[in-house]
Amino acid sequence: MTIRFDFSGKKVLITGGSKGIGRAIAEKFIDAGAQVAICARGIEDLRELQNKRGVLAVQADVTKEEDVKKVIAHTVQHFNGLDILVNNVGGATQFGDFFDMKAQNWRDAFELNVMSMVHFCKEAIPHLKVSQSPRIINISSISGIEPGFYNPHYTSTKSSTINFSKYLSNFLASEKILVNCVCPGSVETDSWDKSVQQISCEKNLPPEEVAREMGSKEALKIPLGRMGQGVDISPLVLFLASDEASWITGSCFHVNGGKMKGMC
Ligand SMILES: NC(=O)c1ccc[n+]([C@@H]2O[C@H](COP(=O)([O-])OP(=O)(O)OC[C@H]3O[C@@H](n4cnc5c(N)ncnc54)[C@H](OP(=O)(O)O)[C@@H]3O)[C@@H](O)[C@H]2O)c1
Repeated sequence: MTIRFDFSGKKVLITGGSKGIGRAIAEKFIDAGAQVAICARGIEDLRELQNKRGVLAVQADVTKEEDVKKVIAHTVQHFNGLDILVNNVGGATQFGDFFDMKAQNWRDAFELNVMSMVHFCKEAIPHLKVSQSPRIINISSISGIEPGFYNPHYTSTKSSTINFSKYLSNFLASEKILVNCVCPGSVETDSWDKSVQQISCEKNLPPEEVAREMGSKEALKIPLGRMGQGVDISPLVLFLASDEASWITGSCFHVNGGKMKGMC
């Protein structure tokens, strides 16, 4: 049975909605009848989604506060309001262990993963306050709860986004703005492809071989036996944005094929 969501008349902004998990979320909202805005840096992907699916596509670098202001202003002006903000943008721009990371790598990770979320929330809240069923959904990561051996700069930011979501849910409860957090496990997206490329260069092996080996190693750690796809994450986001979820706020949800269980 497929759940049919109806978001007709709802105005949704998904940051980093041009690829990967963000794109899957954007497409699912479009299928459910929402008016969807996305932002990203790369113009080609933005244009493609604008032409194919009719999204409002805004080119922006979310690490720049003035660009964040521009995205919100443009979206609100175009749609005459905003109901749902999905803070999806993020990732690790540098890969390595603790000693590989320079101070600037840590700063960059916080700008991309935490400060962009802070700026988007600050700009969006005045508009969400006048929505009938306002929502903020933040995409964190399983690694924000349980880090591995690599990318401590990134995993620390993902921990921060969980804490920030919980704080914001308290702060905005009286306004009936619900704030929740989704923690994906390993999902095959562009960021996964980038790790494959990097390892393939480092080890001087063909990317297909590295992808196969990394994919099957990762799948072995996942009880359901496969890596995720964007479409494994998007239904939960739509549920949290729906009226069915009106008594859920400050929660953090795992979607990871069973790799990590329990509450956080
Ligand atoms: N994939 C996973 O296994 C995984 C696991 C756990 C959590 N997550 C989280 O899920 C979210 C999405 O990850 P993903 O794997 O789907 O990423 P992705 O495939 O790399 O896509 C990232 C999206 O964000 C945009 N973006 C990146 N940097 C930007 C910037 N500075 N300004 C504006 N847009 C920017 C990208 O477009 P442009 O490059 O064109 O700007 C793209 O649309 C992230 O928060 C990530 O931490 C992912």
